Amino acid sequence: MARILITSAIPYINGIKHLGNLVGSQLPADLYARYMRARGHEVMFLCATDEHGTPAELAAAKTGEPVADYCARMHGVQADLARGFRLSFDHFGRSSSPQNHRLTQYFAGRLAENGYIEEVAEKQVYSNADKRFLPDRYIEGTCPNCGYDKARGDQCENCTKQLDPTDLIEPRSAISGSTDLEVRETKHLYLRQSLMKEELAAWIDSKTDWPILTTSIARKWLNDGDGLQDRGITRDLDWGIPVKRGEDDWPGMEGKVFYVWFDAPIEYIAAAAEWAEAQGRPEADWRRWWRTDEGAADVRYVQFMGKDNVPFHTLSFPATIMGSRDPWKLVDYIKSFNYLNYDGGQFSTSQGRGVFMDQALAILPSDYWRWWLLSHAPESSDSEFTWENFQASVNKDLADVLGNFVSRVTKFCRAKFGEVVPEGGSPGDRETELTDDLYIRLRAYQAHMEAIEIRKAAGELRAIWVAGNEYLQAAAPWTAIKTDPETAAMQIRFSLNLIRLYAVLSAPFIPDASAALLKALDSGDDWPDDLPAALNRLAPGHAFATPDILFRKIADEEREGWQAQFAGARR
Ligand code: MF3
Ligand code: ZN
Repeated sequence: MARILITSAIPYINGIKHLGNLVGSQLPADLYARYMRARGHEVMFLCATDEHGTPAELAAAKTGEPVADYCARMHGVQADLARGFRLSFDHFGRSSSPQNHRLTQYFAGRLAENGYIEEVAEKQVYSNADKRFLPDRYIEGTCPNCGYDKARGDQCENCTKQLDPTDLIEPRSAISGSTDLEVRETKHLYLRQSLMKEELAAWIDSKTDWPILTTSIARKWLNDGDGLQDRGITRDLDWGIPVKRGEDDWPGMEGKVFYVWFDAPIEYIAAAAEWAEAQGRPEADWRRWWRTDEGAADVRYVQFMGKDNVPFHTLSFPATIMGSRDPWKLVDYIKSFNYLNYDGGQFSTSQGRGVFMDQALAILPSDYWRWWLLSHAPESSDSEFTWENFQASVNKDLADVLGNFVSRVTKFCRAKFGEVVPEGGSPGDRETELTDDLYIRLRAYQAHMEAIEIRKAAGELRAIWVAGNEYLQAAAPWTAIKTDPETAAMQIRFSLNLIRLYAVLSAPFIPDASAALLKALDSGDDWPDDLPAALNRLAPGHAFATPDILFRKIADEEREGWQAQFAGARR
């Protein structure tokens, strides 16, 4: 039995995530966590909301709520949706937690002690009316390029020109509208990650088993010159983790907070600490997942994320960990994803384009979405959601193949033998052949799941379902029953055991359907380590309940309705 630590990139707090976000980190992480638990491993699966930074402040300002209230509310919304999609986090934390405050300040202190922090003097816009420094996007004015009068200090939305706040004509504060601005000198902290370039390069070179998508992005940033530039890790914002050196104040850093990308990955660690607190467990219980000197040396740590997150996880966060010179656990494997596109374009949060998590659950239960998303995970390239493809996959894989098998077998049994596993007959060549075939497929399925080759795993699972249908079609118990009821009984018994096998193997993909089947069959979910034994698990005389329809088909009119409903922007 191994110990596996799993984290998904932590979603930004501002707004509900779309299906592209979901399939790029949280959902595949859940698949892996469920599979590893099913195989008997000890799993710690962590996620959280990423709550700091300007986007959170601005989103809160839009709703008129204090930012802390906004984050608390949106955390609840995201946690509900995570439950809706059956994401089986051991803990869903918050990057604004006291634990993350402490750890982030602790890491900054360690980095400073080890010479990895530089204090840099900078000139920055200060608003006398707001009594604060203004980040670039908090300054508005007229674009020198196109004359647009609501250009932001970092960019003009109208003509897309990149700007410096000092380029703006008649600059004003986006908070108060005040034009009483001045340029003042201020200090910021920089993480000297360039000092760790060799160490990071050697570490990445040692990861020969990582997906190419992950290592190619890491190498590109490592070698492309500015990839590993020292980066500012403090900001002039109210909302965030106050800059401290461990527990001590940091002279000159009053009123500043850490940059969101500095504290967000530290939340992976803090989430474990939050978990321990929520469970009423001692500190040692979470530290054994994170400190190699306190039990984590034998932990395998796997991260899941979209490709845009790879530089932060292969360079910046490891630099934070390495620079602490403490024995914190470094990631062992990074599974990254390309993008899922939506119907000929991109999913877009800002434009409200695509299907969002709440909308998806309002249409269909989570298993339908989980199956489609995971079986089309954007692994080797970007992939695309279309309503036609979604309809076709659901109708074929879930309704025709899996659902139909279950309903034919259980209904036939109920009609001919009653709701008990029938006795009589003994398995013949056809059953042995199928068992041999399933044995090979099961091994392949396990290998793909272990390698986190999600599409391949889904393909193998589908093939396992198909094999049962083909068996049933060839065995034809509805014919056998007329002349040889013993054989028909054996075939149905074997098929009922196949249903149980499918329920167990499919659980990581479609947990609700799987649980419904196991409940109907009144059976446990132990993994088929011994396949022939597993196919004999439901013994003659074992009572079951005929399950309800597992998956319904999507009709053309319904699909067209959704297509029209989602053609425009959200709300
Ligand atoms: N919130 C970021 C995003 O959605 C991901 C942060 S991952 C972490 O892109 F490492 F910073 F935690
Ligand atoms: Zn412009």
